[in-house]
Amino acid sequence: MNGGSASERVFLVTGAASGIGAATVELLAEVGVVYAVDRDQGIAEAFKNRNNIRPMAFDVTDESAAQALFETIGNEFECIDGLVTCAGICRTASLAETTAAVFDETLAVNLWGTFLMIREALPLLQRSQQPAVVAVSSELGIVGQPNLSAYCASKAAIIGLIRGLSVELAPKVRCNVVAPGPIDTAMLQSFQAERGEGVAEAGLGLPLRRVGQPVEVAQVIKFLLMPASSFVTGAVHVVDGGLTSQ
Ligand SMILES: NC(=O)c1ccc[n+]([C@@H]2O[C@H](COP(=O)([O-])OP(=O)(O)OC[C@H]3O[C@@H](n4cnc5c(N)ncnc54)[C@H](O)[C@@H]3O)[C@@H](O)[C@H]2O)c1
Repeated sequence: MNGGSASERVFLVTGAASGIGAATVELLAEVGVVYAVDRDQGIAEAFKNRNNIRPMAFDVTDESAAQALFETIGNEFECIDGLVTCAGICRTASLAETTAAVFDETLAVNLWGTFLMIREALPLLQRSQQPAVVAVSSELGIVGQPNLSAYCASKAAIIGLIRGLSVELAPKVRCNVVAPGPIDTAMLQSFQAERGEGVAEAGLGLPLRRVGQPVEVAQVIKFLLMPASSFVTGAVHVVDGGLTSQ
C-alpha cells in the first residue's frame, strides 16, 4: 500500500472522459496518481497505457458502486489527497417542459452525485496530510439563464453544499467550488447546437470576448488541490471570462 506522499499524491476526478474533467486528469497526472472515473465506457480507451492514470467506468449516482470504488482505492492507497467532482449533465427545457424525470436526473447527477462522492471519499480524504475537494458548479449557479432552471438549481445547490462542508470538515479538509463560464466542451457544443449557434458565439458577449478552454478551468482546479492554496476554503472561484462581473 502506498502513502499518498508529496511525491505521489492521489487524486480522483469524476466526469473524467471529456472536457474539463479530462483536462484536469491530464494536469493532475503530472503530480500524482489519478483515478479517472466516468459513466462513459470510453473512459478506459481515453487513458489507456497511461502509467499513473487509473480509468474506471462508474456512475456517480450509484451508491453501492461508490462504496466499491473507494474500497478499491483504499486497497491500493492509504489516502486520497484530492477529489474533483466534475461529472455533470445539462438538459435544456422551459419550466413547463421540465418533467419530473428531467428535474430528478439533473439533481441526481449534479447534486446527489457530488454529495455522494464527497461522503464516500471522506474516510480516505481524512487520512491525507492536506486533503482538498473541488466541486465544479457553473456560472449558472450564480446567475440565471432561460430554459435551464433545473440545471441552475443544481449548480446553486452545489455552492451551498460546499459552503456547508467547508465549515463542517474544517480544519482538516479544504472544500472549494469552481464555477466555469462557457467552456469549449461537448456540453457547450450540444447546448449551442440546440440554439442553432456555434461555440464561438457563446463567448462574444463576455468581457474576454471568447469561450474558455478546458485546461483554463483545470489549472484553477489543480491550484485549489495543492498546498499552494492552503488558506483557501469555502470559496467560489469563477473561471468565466468576466461573465458574472457584467
Ligand atoms: N462546458 C461549459 O460551458 C460548462 C460551464 C459551466 C459548468 N460546466 C460544468 O463542468 C462540468 C464538466 O462539464 P464539461 O463541459 O466538461 O462537459 P462534458 O459533457 O464534456 O463532460 C461531462 C462528463 O461527465 C460525465 N458524466 C455525466 N453523468 C455522469 C454520471 N452520472 N456519472 C459519471 N460521469 C458522468 C459524462 O460522461 C462526461 O464525460 C459539468 O459539471 C458541467 O456542468 C461546464
